Amino acid sequence: RMVKRYMACRNDIHRYDAPFMAVYKSLIPAEEELEKQKQLMAQLENLVSKEWPHAKLYLYGSCANSFGFPKSDIDVCLAIEDDGINKSEILLKLANILESNKLQNVQALTRARVPIVKLMDPVTGISCDICINNVLAVVNTKLLRDYARIDVRLRQLAFIVKHWAKSRKVNETYQGTLSSYAYVLMCIHFLQLRRPPILPCLQEMEPTYSVRVDNIRCAYFDKVDRLGNFGSSNRETIAELVWGFFNYWAYAHDYSNTVVSVRTGSILGKREKDWTRRVGNDRHLICIEDPFETSHDLGRVVDKFSIRVLREEFERAAKIMHHDPNPCAKLFEPY
Ligand code: CTP
Ligand code: MG
Repeated sequence: RMVKRYMACRNDIHRYDAPFMAVYKSLIPAEEELEKQKQLMAQLENLVSKEWPHAKLYLYGSCANSFGFPKSDIDVCLAIEDDGINKSEILLKLANILESNKLQNVQALTRARVPIVKLMDPVTGISCDICINNVLAVVNTKLLRDYARIDVRLRQLAFIVKHWAKSRKVNETYQGTLSSYAYVLMCIHFLQLRRPPILPCLQEMEPTYSVRVDNIRCAYFDKVDRLGNFGSSNRETIAELVWGFFNYWAYAHDYSNTVVSVRTGSILGKREKDWTRRVGNDRHLICIEDPFETSHDLGRVVDKFSIRVLREEFERAAKIMHHDPNPCAKLFEPY
């Protein structure tokens, strides 16, 4: 009887594909916005190259990883010759240049954990943070973008999950919940583990892209066009995947013993990573391995209070997906 009920539930779920697709479509940024971002980037590149002819500017984060929402700020990385530079000096100089070129609200935050310059462009209305030499972020942005090109269901699922996390206020790292970056990795991992899989594990394939960043070798198969319709033998639709994702994080994930790993496309044990006890502030209450900085647990921001908040929200979402007649409305109800 349980199986029958489960099947009924899963067959019924297709009723919710259209409403979820409508939410997804409403979250895709308009083409004009991308144009404006490019316009601002071109202006910044021009200003930077006058002062530092060999420096390069890269977009990273949601404006470049294809998981961005409308009206997002943009994240930019200034890559500059590394030996003997003083980041604060460069940031202050950059702030000066930006200010004298009519960019507004320019602020150099040289003492922040990740030092940046903030600015707002009055022409496009876009706000922007510029950091220095955070090349790993540029590379993991590319990895996310390449995964998104393989199967559109990743972008659909990640948009729904991000929208849910923002609505429910569980996308706030300073309050001990998870970053958008962590949620996207959770979605990639979930799709790698579907049977048949919807996504491959690009880091386990023969590398076609390889860079060394701060002594970390970042290598993976990036010619994803050659994969054809990789996930097409799996016919699951957006509503089923949302159902499965929340069901996994509410009831199936083993929080005590396991780590989700996009790098290996599998579930690892906490013991093999030596993530079994608290070290400093890293409590490892929910473990999501960074694909390149493998010693980095993206769940390290989560503490004993926020883990409860998170798990309650996963359960709430799973229950809504199981029982609610109108899950789309309820799921995104503001907290
Ligand atoms: N990043 C990282 N390590 C983290 C958090 C973030 O390397 N622990 C980098 C990633 O390159 C990520 C970028 O910083 O793409 C921005 O992170 P985040 O703000 O979490 O994601 P966005 O995609 O920008 O999401 P949002 O739309 O919420 O701004
Ligand atoms: Mg961001």
